[in-house]
Amino acid sequence: MTYQHVLVEKQGHIARVILNRPEVMNALNSEIMTEIEQVANSFLSDEKTRVVIFEGAGKHFSAGADLKQKGEPQSLLMRRRSAGLGARMIKAILAINQVTIAAIQGAALGGGACIPTACDFRIGSDDITVGYPEVNLGINLMWRSLPLCVRLIGPARAKKMIMLGSRENGTTLLQWGFLDELVARQDLSAASMTMAQAYAQQPPIAVQMIKQSINAVSNALDDALMHMDTDQNLLSQFSDDRREAIDAYFDKRDPVYTGD
Ligand code: COA
Repeated sequence: MTYQHVLVEKQGHIARVILNRPEVMNALNSEIMTEIEQVANSFLSDEKTRVVIFEGAGKHFSAGADLKQKGEPQSLLMRRRSAGLGARMIKAILAINQVTIAAIQGAALGGGACIPTACDFRIGSDDITVGYPEVNLGINLMWRSLPLCVRLIGPARAKKMIMLGSRENGTTLLQWGFLDELVARQDLSAASMTMAQAYAQQPPIAVQMIKQSINAVSNALDDALMHMDTDQNLLSQFSDDRREAIDAYFDKRDPVYTGD
């Protein structure tokens, strides 16, 4: 199957899934998110692939949610369903049987940071910057990704990143445990292939059962805790502070929040 915004390249036991909207920094509109979900689900019937590497084409891994996408006006009922797409995509990546690796260069922001946290491993290049800017747009982090971040870097660091919307560099991310490896930009592809080959040589049945067990242990409460993050996002979108965040962004001034 071919996709419009995602390239899938398979060689031996390794598949590369490349987000391919470099002209908009691989921003995540509904079309590419639907395709990522479809690609993730396609590995269920793929007997040969043992490792899947997620990459971004061009300068950045992904600038996150496509801020320029204008959807058709929808009822709240349908907005709620549409807003659930990000969570469906992340859950599809988490559910991939094969070992997953994110090879990250440049910016990985918002949803662009959520995809790597849904993978088993993350390799970053020395030009990497990772952050969750949602709070500075007046909204919460959703897509079931908050606990994925907390588990990687711990609660205090996650609070800093998600509550301040701070952007962290590769050295910090490696020290915090967000990254498993930090390499020079020109070595990113080779480093991700080396890691992929190590897992591809392992017995796939045992490896995939171990992965599922570890995910089951560490993600056990996520559905119960996070099933309403989409609704929280919709709620925050109706707030005055959300409007103030967007107005201040476009006016290039500091926002003044009231709590309404
Ligand atoms: N959605 C849509 N378009 C985006 C985008 C996004 N999330 N992020 C960047 N772009 C667009 C820019 O508007 C710009 O378009 P233009 O050439 O038509 O003006 C183009 O991509 C290049 O962006 P630019 O900022 O010039 O590139 P850069 O390499 O200097 O910086 C980023 C790249 C990703 C670090 C920076 O664009 C950024 O911080 N983007 C916002 C990220 C964000 O807030 N995401 C939302 C997550 S909830």
